[in-house]
Amino acid sequence: QELQLNLEQIEKGGYDHFMLKEIYEQPRAILDTFRGRMLSNEGIIRMAGVDDNIEKFLNAQRILIVACGTSWHAGLVAEYVFENLTRTPVEVEYASEFRYRNPIITEKDVVIAISQSGETADTLAAIKLAKSKGAFVFGVCNVVGSSISRETNAGAYTHAGPEIGVASTKAFTTQITVLTLIALKLAQKKGTISTSEFHGYLTEMSAIPAKVEKTLESDEHVKTISSIYKDATNFLYLGRGYNFPVALEGALKLKEISYIHAEGYPAAEMKHGPIALIDEQMPVVVIATRKGHYEKVVSNIQEIKSRKGKIIAVVMQGDTSIKKIADYVIEIPETLELLTPLLTTIPLQLLSYYIAVMRNCNVDQPRNLAKSVTVE
Ligand code: G6P
Repeated sequence: QELQLNLEQIEKGGYDHFMLKEIYEQPRAILDTFRGRMLSNEGIIRMAGVDDNIEKFLNAQRILIVACGTSWHAGLVAEYVFENLTRTPVEVEYASEFRYRNPIITEKDVVIAISQSGETADTLAAIKLAKSKGAFVFGVCNVVGSSISRETNAGAYTHAGPEIGVASTKAFTTQITVLTLIALKLAQKKGTISTSEFHGYLTEMSAIPAKVEKTLESDEHVKTISSIYKDATNFLYLGRGYNFPVALEGALKLKEISYIHAEGYPAAEMKHGPIALIDEQMPVVVIATRKGHYEKVVSNIQEIKSRKGKIIAVVMQGDTSIKKIADYVIEIPETLELLTPLLTTIPLQLLSYYIAVMRNCNVDQPRNLAKSVTVE
């Protein structure tokens, strides 16, 4: 028994929980995921699974992304990234819905399946269906040799290392990293972005691990905010553009491990429903990076404030307008808008973590959830 406990403590590397350890591993995990693939000095992205099948990607009529849970959120971020950079239409589907609705799939489609475990039953079944219709299926998995990585035609691994905590953290940011590399590579090949833009992205991507490290310095501040809102019964998360999926992911993290009801919404949709919920009891987490529809998000914040809602805003360093109206702000370092999800996600992971710890929840093994869902 004692030996068992000690082993677990060693595995947790000095952290109280695997989840916290994995949150802190993200600078390294992201670096490991692009290292050797992205040669920023030479301006090259090398990914065997993409290089060997480049014609399939370049001739794709559309890209279909299938996944579940957090991986589905990474797929949504990828939709914005791919469409913006490569101008190829993208659709993102819950694997479970996709497979049961007689979807239209042709040989001209490229299907990207995203899965940390590589074992999710619904995602696996969606892949088999897509393959049977002749689509080229590409996997983005974390677990080497997993069923999905074997079932796909080609793929690229995320190099996150083992993820033990049921709530996915480093798998999410490394999935976004891989998908962004693929999009950048295709955009370069297709000529849908200029050479200088391409180089700009590569340079900025190389700086991301250090910026994630910097973002993690908000830890104590996020802990304080967590202690203030830990007893809330509802949370709303808002974001726009690249950060709309991050809002969904932030809400999912809170639900999963703290059992607080939370919803993520595109900020502009607030007026079509969720605004009715806002009162002085309602914390609203708003992702408001200066580059993404900033003015509009500021006006959303004002609408929430005028209904006495509490604002926790994730902003870019140097922000002044939101600081004046939000109850709490959490800063992330400056970066290109397209890469902000890799940073804005971090404080939301920490917020859910600390709230769950303060509510005495089982952070690493939340009730009713499994790390990999191998049943339909
Ligand atoms: C489970 C896990 C989630 C995960 C989802 C998809 O529900 O608890 O954290 O996002 O499955 O898993 P996958 O391994 O396919 O990414």
